[in-house]
Amino acid sequence: MDIVLSYMFSLVVLYSVFVNPCYGINFNLFNASRIFNHEQWQTATVTWYGPPDGAGSDGGNCGYGDTVEKPPFSKMISAGGPSIFQGGAGCGGCYQVKCTENDACSKEPVTVVITDNCPGCEGLVAFDLSGTAFGAMASPGKADQLRNAGKLTNAQYKRVSCNFGQTIAFTIDSGSSPYYFAIEVEYENGDGNLVETALQQTGSNTWMPMFRSWGARWALNPGSSLNPPFSIKLTEAREDNNNKTIVAENVIPINWQPGQVYRSFVNF
Ligand SMILES: *[C@@H]1O[C@H](CO)[C@@H](O)[C@H](O)[C@H]1NC(C)=O
Ligand SMILES: *[C@@H]1O[C@H](CO)[C@@H](O)[C@H](O)[C@H]1NC(C)=O
Repeated sequence: MDIVLSYMFSLVVLYSVFVNPCYGINFNLFNASRIFNHEQWQTATVTWYGPPDGAGSDGGNCGYGDTVEKPPFSKMISAGGPSIFQGGAGCGGCYQVKCTENDACSKEPVTVVITDNCPGCEGLVAFDLSGTAFGAMASPGKADQLRNAGKLTNAQYKRVSCNFGQTIAFTIDSGSSPYYFAIEVEYENGDGNLVETALQQTGSNTWMPMFRSWGARWALNPGSSLNPPFSIKLTEAREDNNNKTIVAENVIPINWQPGQVYRSFVNF
């Protein structure tokens, strides 16, 4: 009975957290064949930060800002230790995390997105979850009990494929100008890391490589004024070397503005 109830509860929670018809974006939680990089659960140290029912910190080191509060992330985020954050290449990666070592653990996995760096996690395979995500690993009614434990040294994790829908978002960094162009790239599908980003201006056949300035921010110092609209090319590296490249044609419009979000019609 308990198992059935807690299973139903977690389905309800997962449904409400991850499926938002308004956005048409959802995590593909139930398709095990999509789990790619790490078939086996591996051990990690898991802690939490920020407010108990919060999203960790707004403005984490990936540069996603307050989108961590909103669907599809919906506060289900984590900071990653060095092997997870990977100097920013790990930003946007999806993981399942679960615990069994505390009485409050439901033993059911939660799915989180890496949105931040965990500077205190050196030397550990570590996830510093939002208070919301940490509490979501608990059985119904036991979130506070689990959060009070604070640190789980024997939790399990595995990489899973993100499935945010068909739209990648490009937020123009507020410091952008005709001579310096930077974007934050968000909501990539799949289980690879974004390793290359390039920009093509109108009237040119040349892809200008962008550099990772930090987190999920990619920048370009073109040396002269750029000619919009711009197409953006993204390459995701995968563990099986089956890297994938996509192009968002003319995704940045002629009248682009710093701070604006532009959405592609392509995804990995
Ligand atoms: C699971 O994912 C695989 C690979 O993307 C796909 O071929 C398959 O149809 C999916 N199965 C279900 C039940 O969605
Ligand atoms: C895929 O990307 C990784 C990381 O950039 C790179 O090391 C690897 O050579 C690439 N593989 C292929 C087949 O291009």
